[in-house]
Amino acid sequence: MSISRTTPLRVAVLASGRGSNLQAIIDAIEAGQVQAQIVAVISNKKDAVALDRARKHGIKDLFVDPKPFAGRPDSREAYDRALLDILQQHDVELVLLAGYMKIVTAVLVNTYANRMMNIHPSLLPSFPGLDVQKKAIDWGCKLAGCTVHFVTEGVDEGPIIIQAAVPILDDDTPETLAARILVQEHKIYLRAVQLFAEGRLRVDGRQVLIDDAKPSDEAIISPT
Ligand code: GAR
Repeated sequence: MSISRTTPLRVAVLASGRGSNLQAIIDAIEAGQVQAQIVAVISNKKDAVALDRARKHGIKDLFVDPKPFAGRPDSREAYDRALLDILQQHDVELVLLAGYMKIVTAVLVNTYANRMMNIHPSLLPSFPGLDVQKKAIDWGCKLAGCTVHFVTEGVDEGPIIIQAAVPILDDDTPETLAARILVQEHKIYLRAVQLFAEGRLRVDGRQVLIDDAKPSDEAIISPT
């Protein structure tokens, strides 16, 4: 059963780069398709385009420099404690990793269990990690895609919320495939956020159960 909220879901986005997924979510919120409010965009990279995108939309942008934390044995946890402080100060209910190229630790994962999502450009559990479009092509896969999942301590391992598949074409390069996948990323991430905002996601072990989900009855066969 879905719940109706009286206030928009308070979301923070962690991003390290270009921020096109962030932009898709901002646009969907502004268009009234997603009942959420981005209260902060946080980056570990000072020059992340994602921070510019936030500023342009009047969203608080924060660069948290990893350098002061480097060199200590708990540097990753200490960094995440600094992020956690910010998230808690802003009463963040849902954290979105959107091209955030730092592995999050138990400090964040435990506090935001089943309240932190990541988007990854492969059909998990195939191809976790980096350079995944190239890996899918090199493997000879005929389908690739993207996955939104809840974040656990294992990299790209958490329960899967939503996936989209696209064909891999014979002449694809990692770049052309990445572009085809990205179009789908921009659709599924905001759907996952809206499902969360509607209170329709329930985690049962590895499975994410979705109230009133409409399963697709179309198979994607490639090549046709
Ligand atoms: C996206 O393709 C996202 O799936 C990927 O980085 C890109 C960020 O693009 N994330 C990962 O590979 C995480 N494992 P964006 O900055 O334009 O949203």
